[in-house]
Amino acid sequence: SASDEDRALTRLITDETDRIVSLVDRMEVFSDERPIDRYPVNIHVVLDHVKAIAKNGFAKKIKILEDYDPSLPPVFANRDQLIQVFLNLVKNAAEAIGSDPHGEIVLSTAFRPGIRVSVPGTQDRVSLPLEFCVRDNGSGVSEDILPILFDPFITTKPNGSGLGLALVAKIVGEHGGIIECDSTPRATTFRVLMPAWKETALGADQDGEGDRK
Ligand SMILES: Nc1ncnc2c1ncn2[C@@H]1O[C@H](COP(=O)(O)OP(=O)(O)OP(=O)(O)O)[C@@H](O)[C@H]1O
Ligand SMILES: [Mg+2]
Repeated sequence: SASDEDRALTRLITDETDRIVSLVDRMEVFSDERPIDRYPVNIHVVLDHVKAIAKNGFAKKIKILEDYDPSLPPVFANRDQLIQVFLNLVKNAAEAIGSDPHGEIVLSTAFRPGIRVSVPGTQDRVSLPLEFCVRDNGSGVSEDILPILFDPFITTKPNGSGLGLALVAKIVGEHGGIIECDSTPRATTFRVLMPAWKETALGADQDGEGDRK
């Protein structure tokens, strides 16, 4: 029974409410402190899954190339969370390319045994030999947001929430990995470094000797 003018305003209110509800839903994951369920994961299965989602939805017209090291050992991770990481990175790459017909996204994996990083607050250095990259030849990350790129609510998009990379950073950090970005116009790379899965990481007993050594 509302007038046309009131109906338009009511629609505005319900649309905004829906938008805020979905924003709050997405923020909820940031307060989830439960330990992650981790096991050996084949990263190429994860990347192929992300590629299939992208090609069937937001990146229908964008070329997605693979440059995989097929002998890569498994990553010690949670599969669903890794899918979220690479989905967010590939979605950003597709959005940076837009409708450019020469747009291209490259997914690459490599083994870099020499990479060790120090653990903050300790003398320890951990090895992060697995490198996964998402590269695109889109617009490039705007220079003024580079230093705060992984902070929540940083966005240059009219309808962006700025939560995509914050979630990526949270998941990678909780897996003991690191993420870096290197960007110039037409060449943006997001590089994820992760620990490899070792039997000893789970205390697995491979030689049948138990713990008596
Ligand atoms: N591959 C990329 N090329 C260029 N700019 C990028 C790229 N990835 C991220 N950015 C920049 O970083 C900002 C933050 O990205 P983030 O994914 O956190 O949020 P968003 O994409 O704006 O919104 P949301 O992911 O929540 O929908 C983007 O708005 C964009 O300006
Ligand atoms: Mg995003």
